[in-house]
Amino acid sequence: MRIAVFGATGRTGVPFVRRALDAGHEVVVHVRSLEKLEIADGRLTLVEGDAYTGEGVAEAVEGADAVVSLLGQGDGGPDDLLTVAGEHVTTAMAEAGVDRYVTLVGAGVREEGESPSLSGRVMGGLLKLLAREVLADAEEHVRRVRATALDWTVVRAPRLTEDDPSGYRAGDIDLGFESVSRADVAAFCLECLEEGAYVHEMPKVGPA
Ligand SMILES: NC(=O)c1ccc[n+]([C@@H]2O[C@H](COP(=O)([O-])OP(=O)(O)OC[C@H]3O[C@@H](n4cnc5c(N)ncnc54)[C@H](OP(=O)(O)O)[C@@H]3O)[C@@H](O)[C@H]2O)c1
Repeated sequence: MRIAVFGATGRTGVPFVRRALDAGHEVVVHVRSLEKLEIADGRLTLVEGDAYTGEGVAEAVEGADAVVSLLGQGDGGPDDLLTVAGEHVTTAMAEAGVDRYVTLVGAGVREEGESPSLSGRVMGGLLKLLAREVLADAEEHVRRVRATALDWTVVRAPRLTEDDPSGYRAGDIDLGFESVSRADVAAFCLECLEEGAYVHEMPKVGPA
């Protein structure tokens, strides 16, 4: 599979790219700075650009079988990164005829009609208090993704760690106050692509 990755230099992006290459996929990475990516591999294609302005997005997506977005706002970045970058990416995909899209957001993003557990509600309240803009951006991104004709999957994760991968569970699960390693989230995103799983769904991923 040829997979275009946005956010490839990030803490979830790097394990995703490594895992995808190890599994034999061709990977196109869209990065703001080529020097930042410390992975070298014959099956890696580098595209320099900016997902917020849209620079390089069409080039990265062209010819891909699937696209994964592991973008994150970061300190000092725009509050609407996911919304604006997501719009550039999904528009480029539609124009290039690429259907499969997996995007990562926080578990605070609710699905319509979903009734979270008590711990989920507490976490949601904390998020609104501490990261209102991040949550609002992710919610708007998801709203727009769901309105596309793409074969999308929205992966929702709780607090992310940089621990070694230790296995995950995913789907319609109750996350409580758990955290999950970025490496496991990366593995789950790749599984979604490889298995064609959770199309038009918003699975949550947590520790095994
Ligand atoms: N933190 C948590 O506990 C948590 C929990 C659940 C979900 N999430 C979500 O998971 C996602 C990934 O998180 P993470 O911690 O792995 O992210 P991260 O380490 O902060 O990486 C963010 C990535 O986005 C890239 N990026 C930012 N702005 C860009 C732009 N304008 N154009 C191109 N690339 C850009 C960064 O590139 P540079 O290297 O150039 O900066 C980097 O590769 C985020 O959406 C986050 O909200 C986070």
